[in-house]
Amino acid sequence: MGPIRICASVACADYLHLGRDLTALEAAGTDYLHIDIMDGAFVPNLALNLDIMQAVRRGCELPMDVHLMVERPETYIERVAQAGAEVIIVHAEATHHLQRLLAQIRAAGCRPGVALNPHTPLQMLDYVLEDLEIVLIMTVNPGFQGQRLIPQTLGKIAACRQMLDATGRDIGLMVDGNVSLANAPAMAHAGADWLVGGTSSIFAPGLKVNEGVQRLRAAAMAGLSQAK
Ligand code: DX5
Ligand code: ZN
Repeated sequence: MGPIRICASVACADYLHLGRDLTALEAAGTDYLHIDIMDGAFVPNLALNLDIMQAVRRGCELPMDVHLMVERPETYIERVAQAGAEVIIVHAEATHHLQRLLAQIRAAGCRPGVALNPHTPLQMLDYVLEDLEIVLIMTVNPGFQGQRLIPQTLGKIAACRQMLDATGRDIGLMVDGNVSLANAPAMAHAGADWLVGGTSSIFAPGLKVNEGVQRLRAAAMAGLSQAK
């Protein structure tokens, strides 16, 4: 398990004051900007795109991890890389040729990751573990902010951590969806080391963005220090 990485979900920022939010995120020590791209087909919603990535890149130096919730992700990899992605995460459910897609991401100069919907078994990863650097366990069904954690995903995080540790390589385990200050300790305790903060933590109403980052990191660290 690697150090805790706090990833701020840009789709949950205040679009009217995006530059202000990005400056606050950078000052607060955010590790990654999490870019949700949705196409209205893989998930029934629309979110962020290449133009927004390019604008973010001009105004902020934080690395971007891009979560592609789109059909035919292979169509977009080179352009997402060109727009400044460091990490590109594709859904196992969105492609017929996952291994080839991960190789395509690496060839484009990015770090490959695979996301699994809540119902998708970990066994989907059995034959691509060598080809990826990050696994994203969705803790809600993707597509919408502000949903509640699906409780059985906590056991899935723990099983995934065992699977990743058995490889002997440092593969990141990201969680996305209702990563709240209340849920983060259990997620980190179960083995998550990349936490995506959205409306339930970093961008929660009544919380300043910089406080959100710091409190999310503290919540994850508290979970790590609990006895196994
Ligand atoms: C997934 C969501 C998340 C987002 C939600 O489809 O778009 O990426 O981070 O954050 P919460 O659950 O905190 O509103
Ligand atoms: Zn996401």
